[in-house]
Amino acid sequence: MCGIVGIVGNAPVAPLIVDALKRLEYRGYDSAGVATIEAGALSRRRAEGKLVNLENRLKDKPLGGKIGIGHTRWATHGVPNEINAHPHFSRDVAIVHNGIIENFAELRAELIAAGFEFSSQTDTEVVAHLVTRGLDNGLTPVEAAHAAIRRLQGAFALAIMFRGDDNLLIGARNGPPLAVGHGDGEMYLGSDAIALAPFTDSITYLEDGDWVVVRRNEMQIFDAAGKPVERRRQKSIGTSFLVDKGNHRHFMEKEIHEQPEVISHTLAHYLDFTTSRVNDHPLPFSFAELDRLAISACGTAYLAGLIGKYWFERYARLPVDIDIASEFRYREMPLTKKSAALFVSQSGETADTLASLRYCRREGVPIAAIVNVRESTIARESDGVFPTLAGPEIGVASTKAFTCQLSVLAALAVRAAVERGHLSEADEQRLVRELSEAPRFASQVLKLDEQIAKVARELSQVSHVLYLGRDTSYPLAMEGALKLKEISYIHAEGYAAGELKHGPIALIDETMPVIVIAPHDRIFDKTVSNMQEVAARGGRIILITDAEGAARSTVDAVETIVLPEMPEIIMPIVYALPVQLLAYHTAVFMGTDVDQPRNLAKSVTVE
Ligand code: AGP
Repeated sequence: MCGIVGIVGNAPVAPLIVDALKRLEYRGYDSAGVATIEAGALSRRRAEGKLVNLENRLKDKPLGGKIGIGHTRWATHGVPNEINAHPHFSRDVAIVHNGIIENFAELRAELIAAGFEFSSQTDTEVVAHLVTRGLDNGLTPVEAAHAAIRRLQGAFALAIMFRGDDNLLIGARNGPPLAVGHGDGEMYLGSDAIALAPFTDSITYLEDGDWVVVRRNEMQIFDAAGKPVERRRQKSIGTSFLVDKGNHRHFMEKEIHEQPEVISHTLAHYLDFTTSRVNDHPLPFSFAELDRLAISACGTAYLAGLIGKYWFERYARLPVDIDIASEFRYREMPLTKKSAALFVSQSGETADTLASLRYCRREGVPIAAIVNVRESTIARESDGVFPTLAGPEIGVASTKAFTCQLSVLAALAVRAAVERGHLSEADEQRLVRELSEAPRFASQVLKLDEQIAKVARELSQVSHVLYLGRDTSYPLAMEGALKLKEISYIHAEGYAAGELKHGPIALIDETMPVIVIAPHDRIFDKTVSNMQEVAARGGRIILITDAEGAARSTVDAVETIVLPEMPEIIMPIVYALPVQLLAYHTAVFMGTDVDQPRNLAKSVTVE
């Protein structure tokens, strides 16, 4: 959940490192720091809070030097302050780290007993002192770094440099990603290709257990045992994609409004709109032979998977077991030879999801992944990759990735239904045509922005909100609650509407708005009954429905957001937009940091 960068270059690196860190700030922004070597001296500047604070620190006290490392932090060990900010020093060693060293307490005690003094509360400082101890024992810098890395347990991506050698960077990867960038007489290390985009699109990704020795004109990768290994050097796609907000106030707003375009790009990858058939991209398994599909993901991606479950079971009659990855990875779900696993992840780096994938790998089942980052670890470790074509999603709250994940899941569910003999060609063509309409309906719904902003102003005054939905609107209710709480910090819960009377109805009073997501479908009347139960107890209802639903609702809602009538299969995709806009505008009224909400990070690469 942090971002790390290293450059061994031919010009002053501090400003270049800051530029790269700006592209990594979505990974965490509790503090940031840069260290360089100039004329043999090891120096650093660090600052608490956002990267702009580090930039100001460097304006006051610039750093020279043509080799350096940098870090933007999401705190795991130690409060987010300057003392705990990376880079961490130990005599002649400087280090930045992304991840968690699980045996750091034992190592810290060992090093203190050996006379080392710690200045921070971080696990990272342990690594720096371990390297120094290797140097004290007569090892070379490369040997000392390798010896230290071999002592570490847990997840880490590291960049290390040494006073006295301005042509040596050492990188290591075990879990969180680390890429080597190839420049012209310069070399780079970075958490991902986006960070290195200003310098190069020629990238080599390290695999778990790899460590690398990088100098200006050479790179040598080793495996955990120290044996030289070769890794593919590739041209990274999309790294030159310059990400900016355009004319929007926040990345999240921009990304919400990009959805008609990116949903259509994604659908077009899986559907042939001329024949109205599903494309037959290679699959790592045959839907026809599966007796069960296991799905696992986290957060918003999990909720996309949960909607996918409804589709796979309804259209393809394929039983789906779905669980959040932090539970799935330890649950030891029994999997058979006729099972397959599907993982959903925007970043493709989420530690819990990756661990669940590796459980399934050990169980020997075929693995597919829906990811937004093609070169991500989850993608590389899957047997089949289904990309979402959402483009880089910078806002920490996932929006366009979610609706693109739904687009992929809907296309796969239709394909599974065809391959399992539950869908005639005519029905396949109907569903494909209906899916092709999603971008148009999404565009129409974005025109409700002003009305939704008015509702959000009211929401920004309350402390609790309840979201209700049935069927595929139930996961949407949970997604609405997640969006609201993660960017506005208002407590919110998403519940199955039918569950209201089993407890949550005790919460209902005039102080807690109830947002009901209910397109007019075959169970709409059941949801109307739930709304009556709410109204009868003084609850204030905000209804998100369509014209038919608004006409059929017998309850006076304080506000009704009316969406166009649309085919059932695209409702979850299109109804996600008002839910996202409601959270976005509420957060804007609350004055929170919409793109980088407190305590969060875009990619949770630690468990
Ligand atoms: C989404 O709004 C959240 N920020 C978070 O729940 C996210 O969906 C989750 O961490 C999973 O991330 P991934 O899709 O990159 O795996």
